[in-house]
Amino acid sequence: MASEVRGVVALAEGRPVSVVTIVVPDPGPGEAVVRVQACGVCHTDLHYREGGISDDFPFLLGHEAAGVVEAVGPDVTTVAPGDFVVLNWRAVCGNCRSCRRGRPQYCFATHNATQKMTLADGTPLSPALGIGAFADKTLVAAGQCTKVDPSARPEAVGLLGCGVMAGLGAAMLTGEVGTGDSVAVFGCGGVGCAAVAGARLAGASTIIAVDLDARKLELARGFGATAVVDASTEDVVAAVQALTGGNGADVCIEAVGNPKVLEQAFYARDLAGTVVQVGVPTPDMRIDLPMIDFFGRGGQLKPSWYGDCVPSRDFPMLVDLYLQGRLDLDSFVSETIGLDDVEEAFDRMERGEVLRSVVVLR
Ligand SMILES: NC(=O)c1ccc[n+]([C@@H]2O[C@H](COP(=O)([O-])OP(=O)(O)OC[C@H]3O[C@@H](n4cnc5c(N)ncnc54)[C@H](O)[C@@H]3O)[C@@H](O)[C@H]2O)c1
Ligand SMILES: [Zn+2]
Ligand SMILES: [Zn+2]
Repeated sequence: MASEVRGVVALAEGRPVSVVTIVVPDPGPGEAVVRVQACGVCHTDLHYREGGISDDFPFLLGHEAAGVVEAVGPDVTTVAPGDFVVLNWRAVCGNCRSCRRGRPQYCFATHNATQKMTLADGTPLSPALGIGAFADKTLVAAGQCTKVDPSARPEAVGLLGCGVMAGLGAAMLTGEVGTGDSVAVFGCGGVGCAAVAGARLAGASTIIAVDLDARKLELARGFGATAVVDASTEDVVAAVQALTGGNGADVCIEAVGNPKVLEQAFYARDLAGTVVQVGVPTPDMRIDLPMIDFFGRGGQLKPSWYGDCVPSRDFPMLVDLYLQGRLDLDSFVSETIGLDDVEEAFDRMERGEVLRSVVVLR
């Protein structure tokens, strides 16, 4: 029997979201239905509502979630009803040309549920990032569910499902930060603060946080920044160089999605250093660099998809570090809210007041 539950839906471009009844089918082959316990509000949800990602309205929003598996399709063996899981938006296929070469973190054929969730009148919904977890229940591909230690707090570990994993992985996996490295993180929202936390976990000795907003710089200090640069008043490249013995940082992480900031990250980097771009650009953005600088500085420029994570490998490990008190995920949860409060949470996010508002479902 399909379930009728509440869900936060963007019905049309630019219109406020509404809480409506949605229909969640029973799981078919390769699928799972998850009872959502918590789901963070991410910029990407707002981009969907604004029509910035695609025109496939109506969207069922929400994608940074944790919950309990309620039912699985007949052939599903990786998770079972009752499992506590964090949802991911890159279910690794295991069989594409990237997976076959042992690079599942780049999987070129990630997948979602086959069946559609719908509005009460049967209109198919497009779930945000193939998840749609601002809802009491959601239908996903079984591979989007990663079982983790059930003693963890859903509000905190659900955030590993998107922005926090992207930031941690930008430092630990894409940037390969190592003991004694210097790291500069440009933009300290949820993603950038997670990159700061990841740099600390990886043993960086200098961690420089750069942002235009003094509140974000203060938060970044809490996650482990050893110095901060106020980009609204300072020459960012000169400031990062001054904080690294005049050399620049070994790893510079762009966590804004802005070509000017990427250029700063490029020039604030030491010779043979690494630039990681985790901020998502819009299609109109361009960068223009002298080719001699690209060559002459050496090193690596690396885009980071989802922090180059492999959910089945990384989520349980990060949840364990959280439970041991070595990774502070609780501080990313600025407030907990209800399903009716998503629109207000978008406003607070735009005013820069929160790292993450998290919808809690009871
Ligand atoms: N690559 C991925 O897989 C992935 C996953 C999730 C999110 N993201 C992207 O990461 C980016 C950051 O996400 P977020 O949730 O942290 O957003 P956010 O809006 O919370 O944070 C952005 C931060 O950048 C700061 N900022 C803006 N302009 C700046 C400038 N010129 N110099 C310095 N700081 C500046 C803002 O003050 C803010 O603190 C977004 O582009 C998001 O789409 C990427
Ligand atoms: Zn694959
Ligand atoms: Zn997200």
